[in-house]
Amino acid sequence: MCGIFAYLNFLTPKTRAEIIDILITGLQRMEYRGYDSAGIAIDGSSEVDSPHSSVLLLRKAGKVSVLADSVKDVEGVKMDMQYNIHCGIAHTRWATHGSPKDVNSHPQRSSENNDFMVVHNGIITNYREIKEYLLKKGHTFESETDTEVIAKLTQHIHDRYPELSFRQLVETVIQQLEGAFALAFKSLRFPGQLVATRRGSPLLVGIKSNSRLESNHFPVSFSKGRRFVSTHATHIRQEDSSFVQTPNNVLDLSIGVRSQIGSAKLNLNESNNGIQSFESNDWEVEYFVASDASAIIEHTKQVLFLEDDDVAFVEDGALTIHRISRHAENDEQKREVQMLTMELQEIMKGSFKTFMQKEIFEQPDSVVNTMRGRLLPSGEVVLGGIKEFLPDIKRCRRLIMVACGTSFNSAIACRQILEELSELPVVVELASDFLDRQTPIFRDDVCIFISQSGETADTLMALRYCKPRGALTIGVTNTVGSSICRESHCGIHINAGPEIGVASTKAYTSQIIALLMFALTLSEDRISMMKRREEIIDALNKLPELIRDVLKLDDETRTIASKLYKEKSLLVMGRGFNFATCLEGALKIKELSYMHCEGILSGELKHGPLAMVDENLPICMVICRDHVYKKSLNALQQVVARHGAPIIIADTSVPQEDLAGMKHVLRVPKTVDCVQNILTVIPLQLMSYHIAELNGQNVDRPRNLAKSVTVE
Ligand code: F6R
Repeated sequence: MCGIFAYLNFLTPKTRAEIIDILITGLQRMEYRGYDSAGIAIDGSSEVDSPHSSVLLLRKAGKVSVLADSVKDVEGVKMDMQYNIHCGIAHTRWATHGSPKDVNSHPQRSSENNDFMVVHNGIITNYREIKEYLLKKGHTFESETDTEVIAKLTQHIHDRYPELSFRQLVETVIQQLEGAFALAFKSLRFPGQLVATRRGSPLLVGIKSNSRLESNHFPVSFSKGRRFVSTHATHIRQEDSSFVQTPNNVLDLSIGVRSQIGSAKLNLNESNNGIQSFESNDWEVEYFVASDASAIIEHTKQVLFLEDDDVAFVEDGALTIHRISRHAENDEQKREVQMLTMELQEIMKGSFKTFMQKEIFEQPDSVVNTMRGRLLPSGEVVLGGIKEFLPDIKRCRRLIMVACGTSFNSAIACRQILEELSELPVVVELASDFLDRQTPIFRDDVCIFISQSGETADTLMALRYCKPRGALTIGVTNTVGSSICRESHCGIHINAGPEIGVASTKAYTSQIIALLMFALTLSEDRISMMKRREEIIDALNKLPELIRDVLKLDDETRTIASKLYKEKSLLVMGRGFNFATCLEGALKIKELSYMHCEGILSGELKHGPLAMVDENLPICMVICRDHVYKKSLNALQQVVARHGAPIIIADTSVPQEDLAGMKHVLRVPKTVDCVQNILTVIPLQLMSYHIAELNGQNVDRPRNLAKSVTVE
């Protein structure tokens, strides 16, 4: 849901062409987050004596490649012009306010001479009030975006309070904003400086320096420096003087990134509000700000995840983090520079045509990574992230799984085994509906938030709803450092590796495995369940090989897809452990091919959907030899009796005679019932991929969607 990127080089000379290349590549790495328009802002002057005297804004509707083509040769702009110090910002958009067109693309600007430029991920919910106020003050607007008010407000405050530093200016601005945002600012008035901040949308800072960071822990000094009163948006309608007052609630957390890098030269200057600074400026450093680590990894692995209301400020090559704190005393007083563990090749396509195809075929390995070090040869299952909370979890009143989309389907896939092994009531909730209903939550509930990105706004809001009500919260995510990961009491990383294709595939199967392992840990001391546990663990150990076998169905699924791709509608039916497969398969087909596709519980067939069945309706049925086998065959008979000719996904133990007369049968290996749905979903992942490809759709970036939905 929009990707923001910024790059600042300090005493590391770069040509304009190199800077553009870094910005565009950063956007390309995050294009899955939004791809309907893109833009960059860089210094535009060609005068060697005054290299920062103008800002060049380049914005284009369409994919990042459209922007990349347009910036190759901008008239009158010297591409070999060299910058020792430079700040550039960039954005790839998923439209929320205003259709995808050049003027609605980011960076959004404050004025025609590009005084203040901002890139934004999120939604400003009170932008109308701010816009109204600014219109009254004589500002004019060129776009339909909510973001433009941020640029214009920055200008407005700067004009009235020119003594404010760039950081103070941004701190004042964001206190007027309601909603969710990650922002990066560049200004003609503050060349070589960068301000980035977040509230509710992810943001991290990558640090690449010529000196090694000596520690991962950075001391934080609190300053009694300049402070502001929180000026809530409603103040905007009052007098301007409410914008800036003293004292108080911006708390300066000065993080000694610079001091750690070059500690020999550190001079902690008390008179400088406690902000650590250098006397000499002979060091080289590059900073990268991004919505996602995938845009930073090729430059540096040293990153710092910003928290809500952190303001990262780079001035004279020094990074400091400041806080706008509503609860100063409870605030974290340090930020850690963390080492990213992902590798560049993990976010590259390699020999595959698309990321989605790569991710489908990675599943034999991604499931191993989910289980690595957790399924011990002794039969023990160890989930380090929740270990110390296990006694509380086992004592809880109920387990509530909350998620959206594919992550919700993984919860459906595991509900039954969780009920069976934990002997607890298990509730599965769609995050948006859970919030709409203001569902009652109690202190002895355990709430599990499942999210690949760890940033989905609905799921994150649900977590924030449950926490103050005293529930124990568990995050199940694929993104280390994500908001859900940081804000939950404990968690399980699914370790599936970066998932770039917008349609989730390998994260889904890894989520199921993580939840299965969770169920196993809840039953470890139950003698009556030993046998069941053993068969599940055995099945998990054999799973990668079985997935390899399923992937051999690729050609067969393509043949079936070639018969289906022009259809208007498809029903996917199943029950028991395989109901989730039907929901997930249908979701994949609709999001990739824009074809109507419904996943239904075959137990519901006779309560309505059967009316649609005839010789023309394309149907797919999942039939496995499990405890609902007989009922699944009944459903098949009901369909066949109405002249339906379903495509069947069946395990190898289903006798041929039970499927007599079926034209297309995709056979997957047999495994234990609660693991079987991992094998039955893969043919549907492949089928959805091929249907979309045959329809000429962009498989990695389906229209209107984004990978990380950070707005409600
Ligand atoms: C579908 C898909 C979405 C996501 C949903 C939740 O292929 O990817 O339905 O599953 O937006 O996203 P996360 O898991 O990041 O919370």
